[in-house]
Amino acid sequence: MSWFANLKISTKFNIMLSLLLVFVFLAAAYFVYHRERSLIDRIAVDNARSIARQIIETREYMSSVVKGEPNHNYGLVPQVVATNVAKRLTKGSHYYVRQVSLRYRNPENRPDGYEAEMLSLFSAKKATETSRVVKKAGKEPIFRYMLSMVAEKSCLECHGRFEEAPAFVRERFPKGHYSYDYQVGEVIGAVSVSIPLADLYRQAGTDFKLDLAYRGATFCLIILIMGFLVRRSIIDPIREVSTTIGRVTATGTFSDRIPQRSRDEVGELVGSFNEMMEELDRKTRQRMESEDRYRNVLEMAQSAIVTFLADGKLIITNRKAEDLFGLPKGELIGASIYTFFDDGDAVRAAIEANLRGGPGGMVGETTFHRVRDVRGRTTEVEVALSVSRSDLNPLFTAILRENGSNGRH
Ligand code: HEC
Repeated sequence: MSWFANLKISTKFNIMLSLLLVFVFLAAAYFVYHRERSLIDRIAVDNARSIARQIIETREYMSSVVKGEPNHNYGLVPQVVATNVAKRLTKGSHYYVRQVSLRYRNPENRPDGYEAEMLSLFSAKKATETSRVVKKAGKEPIFRYMLSMVAEKSCLECHGRFEEAPAFVRERFPKGHYSYDYQVGEVIGAVSVSIPLADLYRQAGTDFKLDLAYRGATFCLIILIMGFLVRRSIIDPIREVSTTIGRVTATGTFSDRIPQRSRDEVGELVGSFNEMMEELDRKTRQRMESEDRYRNVLEMAQSAIVTFLADGKLIITNRKAEDLFGLPKGELIGASIYTFFDDGDAVRAAIEANLRGGPGGMVGETTFHRVRDVRGRTTEVEVALSVSRSDLNPLFTAILRENGSNGRH
């Protein structure tokens, strides 16, 4: 997860927020989809069932009242009446209604694959009503509903024994045709209703895709607004603190302050940062002042004063030291102090002994030496040597007083 830890806060925040919203979005889409589907399903079943009922009632009514009429008017056969009523009922809609039977008389009433399957279910008394969304490859999904039709006594007049059937039936369907010999209570066929799913959605007034688009747009808007707020209230101030720190590191000046825009945690951070800058500013100013003071004292001193490292390299000198060694400050800094002493090797040995912690002599004491400047002029000096170990490298400071100036020869 280290890659994640290395991301910017805004990116992290956006990733987390997006994940959360995608999750919520999917969950919402899932629930909406299921709610819409069950709503559609209920509308579809209700409509299909009521159509099927009307047709069955029509047929049963016709069957109970017709006597010999179909003999000279085929349009009064219950099946034919029901078929035409169904046609009129569904005219202008995308509903498609049929009455089918496994033992059909009219080839137009032959069941398709799905209907045959359901009819077998009905015949086996495993169901009396079925509904399902059927999707064939390359075609729109279709909602299909079927309600089984059971033979009652009146039906047997034409669907019972061949010998008892009316003449017009016997003429069309010869003895032994499988559309005879039904028993009361036997499944004789079914009403089959088909509705394109798209029409159902239109009817229910729901558009799942539009719904998703709205939700998606809302979530995007939330991400944008939240992102903006987080950037304004957290990321921008923090970035300002970090660029200011960068600038301070580069320039060494502590005068920058960041405007504190809030009283929250980020505001507190900015406040503390400003306080820290204030304090550092004050401290540096103090240090610079004291350094200036020290430099002045050093320059005005009546003796040569030098600070050098253990290897003898000079790092601080004053004007008197320049006179003593005969070199300007620019050349003096970096030169080795040991080269100016006649007994330079002894001085170096004493300092190295002191570094090792042994009795060095010299350090902390006042000793007498002869100093030779670059032109070869020699001067007797009294040297007071001290060491400061506060730093990583111990620093040695020597005050060299000319014996002559002291009158002590
Ligand atoms: C008066 C005679 C008559 C009566 C009564 C009758 N039917 Fe029919 N039925 C027919 C005829 C004729 C057809 C063929 C219609 C066609 O050509 O479309 C038929 C067709 C059907 C079909 C369509 C399948 C097929 O065979 O083509 C079903 C289902 C059906 N009848 C069920 C019933 C039921 C249920 C009843 C009782 C409620 C009933 N019929 C009463 C004569 C009758």
